[in-house]
Formats: sequence, C-alpha cells, structure tokens
Amino acid sequence: MALLFAPLDTRLHQRTTFRCGVPALDAYLQQQAGQHQRDGIATTHVLTDDSDPARILGYCSLAAAQLQLHDLQAADRRRLPAYPVPAVRLGRLAVATGVQGKGYGRLLLGHAMNCSVALRGQLSVRVLVVDALDERAAAFYRLHGFHETSDQAHTLYLPLGQA
Ligand SMILES: CC(C)(COP(=O)(O)OP(=O)(O)OC[C@H]1O[C@@H](n2cnc3c(N)ncnc32)[C@H](O)[C@@H]1OP(=O)(O)O)[C@@H](O)C(=O)NCCC(=O)NCCS
Repeated sequence: MALLFAPLDTRLHQRTTFRCGVPALDAYLQQQAGQHQRDGIATTHVLTDDSDPARILGYCSLAAAQLQLHDLQAADRRRLPAYPVPAVRLGRLAVATGVQGKGYGRLLLGHAMNCSVALRGQLSVRVLVVDALDERAAAFYRLHGFHETSDQAHTLYLPLGQA
C-alpha cells in the first residue's frame, strides 16, 4: 500500500461515492471540482492508495488568493511591505468517513503546504489561508498552527515563513 497525491482526474477518480460527513464538501467534489479545475478557478488534489487508485480517500482544493496586510496578526506583519499578502487558498479539505482519524487530514494539509512552498521558485506565496466551515473545522486548523485573521475567527492562515 502506497498513498499517492494526484490532481483530480474526473475520468479515473470515483467522485459519486465519496462521503465525508459534510454534504456541501461531498457535493463540491461531485459537481463543481472538475469544472473549477478546467476553468482555472481551483485545483483539486486527491489522496488515493495505489491498490485502489480510483477510490478517493480525501481531497483538498487550492487556488491563488491574497490577504490584506491588516488581516495578519501584528507579529506576522513585521517587516512586510504595505501590499496585499500573496496567498494560496485551501478552499476545501475533506477525508472520507471510513478513513477519518488515520492521519489523512494532516497529510492533506502537509501536501497543501508543500505545494504552496514549491510554487515559490516562480511565484511568491507568504501564507496558506483557509475559510473554515465551522468551529469544529477551525479547531482542526488551529491545532495545526493556523492563526486567526484579525477580524474573522473562521478565516485562518498559516505563515509559510521566508523562502
Ligand atoms: C476534519 C478532517 C479533515 C480531519 O481529517 P482526519 O483524517 O480525520 O484527521 P487526522 O487523523 O489527520 O487528525 C490529525 C489530528 O487532528 C485532530 N483533529 C481531527 N479533526 C479535528 C477537529 N475537527 N478539531 C480538532 N482536532 C481535530 C486529530 O485528533 C489529530 O490530532 P492528534 O494527532 O493530536 O490526535 C475530517 O474529519 C473531515 O473531513 N471532516 C469532515 C469535513 C470537514 O469538517 N472538513 C474541514 C475543513 S473545511
């Protein structure tokens, strides 16, 4: 068994059977993710196991974004110029109900961070930002080092540090 990350392939990956416990996140994968990928709105990355590569264990979607400098906490603003802060938006992240609690959510988060940092050879990215669906989701991101923006408890960001 080897876990793999791949861009969503609507001809290969089985989207209709995916359930994570939040219907809006299931519906996004089933109805919008492919179109958003084709339109250049958000790229969906799926986590699969090579023994059953069509089965989606979890997914996350990434898109370019920005935060305003004042959205960052004072300590994270230090030495930054008075420009919008380049960001990657982690639009959605979900793990299938049958495999939750096995570390896949953390793995997807690590993948999103790695993708963001890897972009830096060509395009600067300072933070990974997420709009948490609710307090439970926000708790997951806080546990993994995300900071709250100055005015919205459910918009959180992870400073990616200097290159
Ligand atoms: C939230 C979710 C992504 C977590 O994925 P997961 O694979 O079950 O989580 P992991 O096994 O990777 O857990 C990693 C750590 O986060 C913790 N954790 C998991 N869900 C958590 C939550 N909602 N709040 C706080 N901590 C949480 C785990 O206890 C674990 O910590 P530990 O290693 O100290 O025990 C998953 O449960 C899910 O898809 N839920 C439904 C959709 C959702 O709420 N998405 C949130 C993003 S909008």
